[in-house]
Amino acid sequence: AAVSHELNQPLAAMKTYLAGARLLMQRNRLEEALSSFGRIDDLIERMGAITRQLKSYARKGQQQFSPFDMGEALASALSMMEPQLRQRQVQINRILPAAPVQVMGDRMRIEQVLVNLLRNAIDATKSERNPKVDIILSAGETATLTVRDNGPGIEDLDALFEPFYTTKQPGDGVGLGLAISSGIVTDLGGRLTARNGQNGGAVFEMQLPIMDSAENSTGGGIENGSGNEDRNR
Ligand SMILES: Nc1ncnc2c1ncn2[C@@H]1O[C@H](COP(=O)(O)OP(=O)(O)OP(=O)(O)O)[C@@H](O)[C@H]1O
Ligand SMILES: [Mg+2]
Repeated sequence: AAVSHELNQPLAAMKTYLAGARLLMQRNRLEEALSSFGRIDDLIERMGAITRQLKSYARKGQQQFSPFDMGEALASALSMMEPQLRQRQVQINRILPAAPVQVMGDRMRIEQVLVNLLRNAIDATKSERNPKVDIILSAGETATLTVRDNGPGIEDLDALFEPFYTTKQPGDGVGLGLAISSGIVTDLGGRLTARNGQNGGAVFEMQLPIMDSAENSTGGGIENGSGNEDRNR
């Protein structure tokens, strides 16, 4: 949230300067228009600095490697979403294996990823009559968390993880959620992938290295990668 605020501010300012420059050009006041462009340049520079900072921040954060229960991280992320979920009726289905799924990593950062994915899923269902988000956790060779919604699906799968790619209105999104999230997951040795579901809607899958413990019993028949729409439970 802090990130989007930091970036929304220069974005809004850029919009203002751009409108000003357009007006000045129409009135043939080119010198003044040029200085408006200069201001826009400065703002772009500043946004670049913010994202560079974010990147190095995400890298440094990984020093706190410790084992945690993925189901608990999910519960915290969902409780952070409570205000949004109170505003809109979205059916959230959580499917967890019987045994806890222990992963190694930075729990705070993973919660940040979960919040980003959940926010996107909830946003995506905003025009649905019966908005629904499924969250499925499973344990096999990796810990896999799937977030699936019944929204319209992903428009541009290639651009999805690119910084500043957004289809949302200014103020609603800046297009950094997934770029940052995939950076975090990669830094933790995992993978974040996306696809459109067979019955519509978007499907995001986060895979993280699992802690090898005695109870490796739940994840029979794990296939890797995509195409595992409705695997067990
Ligand atoms: N669940 C989804 N269903 C459909 N499209 C999605 C979904 N999640 C993401 N997208 C698409 O990917 C774009 C980028 O998502 P991303 O989370 O990176 O940025 P954002 O949500 O637009 O803004 P923010 O920086 O606030 O997260 C979205 O604008 C949307 O077009
Ligand atoms: Mg987002």
